[in-house]
Amino acid sequence: MSKKNPLKRSWAEPFKIKVVEPIRMTTRDHREKAIKEAGYNSFLLKSEDVYIDLLTDSGTNAMSDRQWAGMMVGDEAYAGSKNFYHLEDNVKKYYGMPHFVPTHQGRAAEHIISQILITPGDFVPGNMYFTTTRLHQEMAGATFVDVIIDEAHDPQNEHPFKGNIDLQKLEDFIDKVGAKKIAYVFMAGTVNMAGGQPFSMKNLKEVQAVCEKHGVRLWFDATRACENAFFIQEKEERYQDKTITEILKEMCSCFEGIWVSAKKDLLVNIGGFLATKDEKVYEKARNMVVVYEGLHTYGGLAGRDLEALARGIEEMVEYDHIRARIKQVEYCGVELEKYDIPLVKPFGGHAIFLDAKKILEHIPMNEFPAQTLVAEIYMDSGVRTMERGVVSAGRDAETGEHKYPELELVRMTFPRRVYTQAHIDVTVESVAAIFADRKSIKGLKMVYEPEYLRFFQARFERIV
Ligand code: F0G
Repeated sequence: MSKKNPLKRSWAEPFKIKVVEPIRMTTRDHREKAIKEAGYNSFLLKSEDVYIDLLTDSGTNAMSDRQWAGMMVGDEAYAGSKNFYHLEDNVKKYYGMPHFVPTHQGRAAEHIISQILITPGDFVPGNMYFTTTRLHQEMAGATFVDVIIDEAHDPQNEHPFKGNIDLQKLEDFIDKVGAKKIAYVFMAGTVNMAGGQPFSMKNLKEVQAVCEKHGVRLWFDATRACENAFFIQEKEERYQDKTITEILKEMCSCFEGIWVSAKKDLLVNIGGFLATKDEKVYEKARNMVVVYEGLHTYGGLAGRDLEALARGIEEMVEYDHIRARIKQVEYCGVELEKYDIPLVKPFGGHAIFLDAKKILEHIPMNEFPAQTLVAEIYMDSGVRTMERGVVSAGRDAETGEHKYPELELVRMTFPRRVYTQAHIDVTVESVAAIFADRKSIKGLKMVYEPEYLRFFQARFERIV
């Protein structure tokens, strides 16, 4: 169906189910034991103990029959696999980037680009931090600087493009430290930690102009670029008649390069890449990829994975697919709102975010309201969600104190093409039940904290 379909029918999944994977509902008793053993951290639960898994949309997508067929034509040569060339062609065609190296997933590309572009002491302004992105920037010696618009930090603010960069903040910061100290400016589309919020094409072009004026590089975390493109088509007047493919290409044309976790938009279970217009950056990336990932024609991936990825790119830009994907997420938000549950608005591309700070307002921030809410939802129904608040934000390198972000959220993330509307209804019922009983919920204390990306492995105990 094209965007211009005059019938305005409601959305439905543009696929039917051919293979199923059974899932099971456990008892409350079983789940209470399981989450206790997991240190009240949903990352430490066994997947077998989960009923509906909304932990992440990363690598959890269902592949199409066409992608599975592609797995059978994997060319597993060490060098020059034909699947690499198919993928390279599609990166050129859909992202418009002439040079490309595959990586095993997104953070490997983040590592490589951070090491190439950052000199210790540099700054990296961007539209809000992402956990792995910022860590690689910091490990390369840079300081991340948040230049997103203020509205992004307010869950209730209905700004249509909460992923936008505040141009004044950006200009002021460049003036303050000098352009030479800026390793690069980056934009993520959509902004994960802000609630899956898009930036507008207008804002992107303005940011590009600022960067050009100061001679500063502009890079793109294009992990969910397609979802951002869908919002541009929906919300930005001038783009209503453009296709997702056209919008994606136009977005990418504004950047010097992109890094991508292919585990999201691109409808596969593993993979990533770095792609750029800059030949010198490409040459350095090609040198680094052989050290950390594998030869530059496989980058830590099997030939069959490269093929699934190449085919995933072709499917991700289809209008019916992207519309059903985003509208399924919206359906969940609309249903939750019927119970007056505080959510991040507008609804994001990959997830609905519960405002844990509001829902559990009686729990102080140092008792981790969002982490607590994740555990409560799991115990109620076996639905697995994820904390995106103080635990994810980590500690301040200088003071050693927790960083307390404005947003203390629980992310209900939707894998692509995996769950049905009925699964969402069950999830909504569970969150509504917890919300009704919220006053009786007590917080958590952290009893183990790893050095890096603590949210993945930290352990907690219930405060009684
Ligand atoms: N950039 C963004 C915007 C991401 O959301 C992620 C991963 C990465 C980079 C890193 O990619 O996982 O392939 O190494 N996000 C996952 C999530 C983990 O659950 O949001 P990766």
